[in-house]
Amino acid sequence: MASSSSSSSSFFAVSVLILFVSTAESLKSPIHPRDLLPHLPRQVSWPILNSLYGAADLLPTFIGTASQGNNSVEWKGACFYENKAWLEFHNKSGSEFGGGTLHIKADNAHSWTCMDLYVFATPYRVTWTWYFISREHTVEFAEWEGKAEYEYVKNKGVSIFLMHAGMLGTLQALWDVFPLFTNTGWGESSNLKFLEKHMGAKFEPRPQPWVTNVTTDQIQSGDLLAISKIRGRWGGFETLEKWVSGAYAGHSAVCLRDSEGKLWVGESGNENEKGEDVIAILPWEEWWEFEQTKDDSNPQIALLPLHPDVRAKFNVDAAWKYARSMEGKPYGYHNLIFSWIDTISENYPPPLDAHLVASFMTVWSQMQPDYAANMWNEALNKRLGTKGLDLSDVLVEVEKRGSSFDKLLAVPEQDDWIYSDGKSTSCIAFILEMYKEAGLFGSLANSIQVTEFTIKDAYMLNFFETNASRLPQWCNDNDNVKLPYCQILGKYRMEFPGYNTMDPYSHMNEQCPSLPPKYNRPENC
Ligand SMILES: *[C@@H]1O[C@H](CO)[C@@H](O)[C@H](O)[C@H]1NC(C)=O
Ligand SMILES: *[C@@H]1O[C@H](CO)[C@@H](O)[C@H](O)[C@H]1NC(C)=O
Ligand SMILES: *[C@@H]1O[C@H](CO)[C@@H](O)[C@H](O)[C@H]1NC(C)=O
Ligand SMILES: *[C@@H]1O[C@H](CO)[C@@H](O)[C@H](O)[C@H]1NC(C)=O
Repeated sequence: MASSSSSSSSFFAVSVLILFVSTAESLKSPIHPRDLLPHLPRQVSWPILNSLYGAADLLPTFIGTASQGNNSVEWKGACFYENKAWLEFHNKSGSEFGGGTLHIKADNAHSWTCMDLYVFATPYRVTWTWYFISREHTVEFAEWEGKAEYEYVKNKGVSIFLMHAGMLGTLQALWDVFPLFTNTGWGESSNLKFLEKHMGAKFEPRPQPWVTNVTTDQIQSGDLLAISKIRGRWGGFETLEKWVSGAYAGHSAVCLRDSEGKLWVGESGNENEKGEDVIAILPWEEWWEFEQTKDDSNPQIALLPLHPDVRAKFNVDAAWKYARSMEGKPYGYHNLIFSWIDTISENYPPPLDAHLVASFMTVWSQMQPDYAANMWNEALNKRLGTKGLDLSDVLVEVEKRGSSFDKLLAVPEQDDWIYSDGKSTSCIAFILEMYKEAGLFGSLANSIQVTEFTIKDAYMLNFFETNASRLPQWCNDNDNVKLPYCQILGKYRMEFPGYNTMDPYSHMNEQCPSLPPKYNRPENC
């Protein structure tokens, strides 16, 4: 991912949270959607809302945006028939951009026990609340995150989504997740605790100094850099990514030496001056300096040197040619999510499921329609063999064909799919595609879809050095534990269960379940 926070990255992180802000239970429960959503608002933007019994019924419903002044938004909830919301800016915090109060007036409940559940989102945060008493409620935004959020809210307001009832448990589970994104010591320890609890990760502290005095002469083309960020937005995002995929690293980059012997780092998900996450090729010194001094996500980094036999196969010219052809292209948001969804039900730790993915996409589409179109919709259309359908059309089409959204998500990504902004590669897909071009998969190349690989799938490949005496001489020199790879940065010892153990095979990783905490991987999936 990007090396520091940016609006697109923070939005992504926040949107991942939306995945959790919904419920898996209802799809599986015997209760019919119609019972859960008896009275949906009339004026909602969801076009197929009236076709009940469809997958779309359980998605969060976009109500509208609450903005400043007298332009309040009014709607009819599931429980309260008369609702109204408006936003008031204030400066109680005395900060540069101030904060705001969202006022909601809920009236005319149809029973005493029913409850409306709402999610409020800006591209920079998501929060929620529920009501079961008619009165005026407020949601406080003590302080806008910065100019970008302030401007966004001023122009577009705060988006409101109505969620179906019965998801209180899921919301409570969120208390675990929210601190993950805080750039504080508390946020960092929340990330560690989350991974310890849900993945069984260890995070043993290493002796100081936590930075290795690396010499570039011992790093070669094709060597992999496995990165794990544990703080701030990227930390939180990577934590969730690790949890759903079973990978013990959340980001990756690759080393390349040019014909003059200069060392470079290729990275998909590097942030450019405009704050966009793109594929970049940077001089090693620049990249390494940034990671040590400017990356606020507290990165832990390990160098995974290629095995000499594998290195001998590595066609450096072909690798450079591929890298140059991808340079400047956007990070692979299109297929990011599809790399871990291989199976219909065995990739979603509770409370995630396909329905939540759809919820996430709904919220995203509402807030960043331009992004959404190229992010998910294209990838979904490719799976259906259609063009230009939006998410709701996709859901309708899937049902028409007697299939389901979860089956659609499980369709493997094809590496040769070209999106409107070019080929799409996440950090690890970029590296593995380079490996493929450079000849490391040999004759298997045509039956390997690297977009189906997670970072874990990559470090499990038996491409790496097996002989400790051939590792760079500074490898783990600060540490009393000798890892089979070289950790070069970080307070916590990095662990990669299954490192360097798996021969590649045809159609590898196209049907692998990934369920925490054990992430059992059947042979030949
Ligand atoms: C809102 O409406 C009230 C009464 O109609 C009016 O006095 C006030 O100026 C309006 N405020 C804004 C910001 O338009
Ligand atoms: C809020 O108050 C502080 C301190 O008085 C001031 O510097 C800042 O400009 C104010 N912000 C807004 C948005 O009014
Ligand atoms: C790092 O290694 C280089 C070359 O071996 C050496 O000149 C330099 O002093 C070392 N720096 C530190 C901080 O140890
Ligand atoms: C490991 O590498 C060293 C140095 O190249 C070599 O002498 C030794 O035989 C190798 N060991 C094995 C088991 O291959």
